[in-house]
Amino acid sequence: MTKGIISAIDVGTTKIATIVANVRSQDDIEVLGVGVVPSHGMHKGIVVNMDEAKEAIATSIQEAQKISGTRVDSVFVGVTGRHISSINNRGVVAIPRADRLVRSEDLNRVLAASRSVTVPEGKKLLHAIPRFYTLDGEERVKRPVGMHGTRLDVETHIITASVSSVQNLVKVIRSIGVQVEDLVLEPLASGEAVLTAQERESGIIMADVGGGTTDIAVFKDGDIYHTAIIPVAGYQITSDIAIGLGLPFHVAERMKKTYGNVTPGLDVGRETELTGIENGHAASYRELCDIVRSRMEELFELILLELPTTDYQRLAPCGLVLTGGTANLGGLVDLGKEHLHMPVRRGAPLGSGVYGITDILRDSAYSTTLGLVLWQARNREPSAWQQKRGGMFGGIAKLLRRLFHG
Ligand SMILES: Nc1ncnc2c1ncn2[C@@H]1O[C@H](COP(=O)(O)OP(=O)(O)OP(=O)(O)O)[C@@H](O)[C@H]1O
Ligand SMILES: [Mg+2]
Repeated sequence: MTKGIISAIDVGTTKIATIVANVRSQDDIEVLGVGVVPSHGMHKGIVVNMDEAKEAIATSIQEAQKISGTRVDSVFVGVTGRHISSINNRGVVAIPRADRLVRSEDLNRVLAASRSVTVPEGKKLLHAIPRFYTLDGEERVKRPVGMHGTRLDVETHIITASVSSVQNLVKVIRSIGVQVEDLVLEPLASGEAVLTAQERESGIIMADVGGGTTDIAVFKDGDIYHTAIIPVAGYQITSDIAIGLGLPFHVAERMKKTYGNVTPGLDVGRETELTGIENGHAASYRELCDIVRSRMEELFELILLELPTTDYQRLAPCGLVLTGGTANLGGLVDLGKEHLHMPVRRGAPLGSGVYGITDILRDSAYSTTLGLVLWQARNREPSAWQQKRGGMFGGIAKLLRRLFHG
């Protein structure tokens, strides 16, 4: 497993968060510092202004360095955006030797076979995560090495990303003098932070509803089954409030965060105007909540449309976990249950085994941030991007880290 001090950057549309943590084991993670700054130069997961993004990322790194008293030389980076797509692909090989014993070289062969998909022009493999193996028809084998069989199949979850989108982000971070150690798809990171092993085994949908994107990940049989990114999230809610109620964007944003509730119920005291609370701007509480509610209902519909099947009960008996900053909206869990007819809960990042400077990590906006560290700590698959790009450098970096941090 990855041990020692590691840093990660969650480059969101709303905020940029750099986290520095000392990983002693996967159940012993001391957060040394989190540097959070408002995001600039980013739109729906991609860099739109390199100079602005560079300045914001650099400030977030400096902040994390100051709090943690640690120098950040290299980082793990979260990747998201509409340019991401995913499929499950199968690979199959024969076990040719007389002893019919599966060896690690067979595993490599079958994984290579499952990865040989046609990647569209301008895209590249970001992750290829083996979900499970099938040995002579025996499904759901997790570790086939050492077992006997004649035919080995694997189902692999393949995630591709736009080369230029990822390169721009990497370029910005390198220009600050910080190396990118590896890339992780953001919903995979969030999933690490908010889901239990049992939920991942039975089947669950996770939606990280941020500012610019809603990142979806479906887990089944213990591993990732489906990923999708919807370019709609909290920003659109605020923008609708601003237009609908004739308010400046920043006032609409503050009103949403302070009063936004999707199931306002019969809160009579607040039926009246929210007058004079925001620099003289007034709005009707009922109208504000109606806008937020209809936008969220729409988003629930969009989430369902992104799922690979309509048999939700079979796909995800554990239902939906909502996280990301927008999951803070009052009443969201109840609205989800009512609208989707499935179990719904809110997911916050702070689990057991994580301690230190963690106050901020109680907020569901930081699921990806902590998740990026957990992904490394639990030694999940290195990205396909990294393996291809220069596994050797990655290898050397890992070796150095092990030598210096034990
Ligand atoms: N208490 C709250 N009530 C309602 N919305 C909130 C609250 N707190 C934060 N938000 C919303 O959450 C969004 C930011 O969430 P988050 O920090 O997860 O996004 P991000 O990671 O910066 O963006 P993305 O992941 O989409 O790139 C904003 O739209 C903000 O208005
Ligand atoms: Mg985010």
